[in-house]
Amino acid sequence: MPDGAEDQPILELRGINKSFGPVDVLKGVDFSVWPGKVTALVGDNGAGKSTMVKCISGTYAIDSGDYLFEGQPVHVHSPRDASALGIEIVYQDLALCDNLDIVQNMFLGRERVSGVVLDESSMEQSAGETLKSLSVRTVSSVRQRVSSLSGGQRQTVAIAKAVLWNSRVVILDEPTAALGVAQTAQVLALVRRLADRGLAVVLISHNMLDVLEVADHIAVLYLGEMAAQVARADVNQQQLVELITTGHLAGDRAAAVTKGPSA
Ligand SMILES: Nc1ncnc2c1ncn2[C@@H]1O[C@H](COP(=O)(O)OP(=O)(O)OP(=O)(O)O)[C@@H](O)[C@H]1O
Ligand SMILES: [Mg+2]
Repeated sequence: MPDGAEDQPILELRGINKSFGPVDVLKGVDFSVWPGKVTALVGDNGAGKSTMVKCISGTYAIDSGDYLFEGQPVHVHSPRDASALGIEIVYQDLALCDNLDIVQNMFLGRERVSGVVLDESSMEQSAGETLKSLSVRTVSSVRQRVSSLSGGQRQTVAIAKAVLWNSRVVILDEPTAALGVAQTAQVLALVRRLADRGLAVVLISHNMLDVLEVADHIAVLYLGEMAAQVARADVNQQQLVELITTGHLAGDRAAAVTKGPSA
């Protein structure tokens, strides 16, 4: 990677607007994510986080604004377009099939074939290698059914599924919401490893401690507007809560904070 390449966001939204009928849900939103960094996306219920992610994934069409990938304007009209760019979303409901095993889930809809039959051994090997490369050791067999996995293991499989496809940007919507302490720690460690592998990771979370622990950058949506996107080191928990609940910081720091992260 040439010097300075890390400074360019891999994905950037500029002045995005999105309305549902008369309701303006996203208003002039700017948002940037960088390779090798975890960008947390926070905001109160209804702030517009999921809507913004669905605009990124092409599930919703943006009304106006620019969508840039590696600095170039792109048109993402469907999840397929987003996948083609290497953007994968892990939704909260995970969309895993309980009655299928780990390999079948990871390759669902994109099965490998050899002649007229499924290439089970190649898929099994890739699934195992992906989990291993993510240092996932809690899953004993990739032929285990997903119904027999714990919440944390399921989340791990869903994340591994997303990174199996040479993804560049992985967006996780509340990956730790339903998890206990130990499993949350495991998933956060996995989030960190994804970024250390050079992926751009977007983490949506309501848990401030998780966000402060794992994020490099933090973007705060407030009533459909981007209140701030800051470097983790530039905010403390109290300021973050203030940004989420009021959309700004009292006092002088507001100007400094809304300027954006120094990356
Ligand atoms: N399809 C839709 N039609 C109309 N309004 C919608 C639609 N989807 C979302 N909204 C509205 O847009 C706003 C933002 O919703 P969104 O789901 O993006 O919030 P969020 O930040 O993800 O919240 P949460 O933390 O609760 O998941 C809400 O006021 C919601 O009611
Ligand atoms: Mg949401």
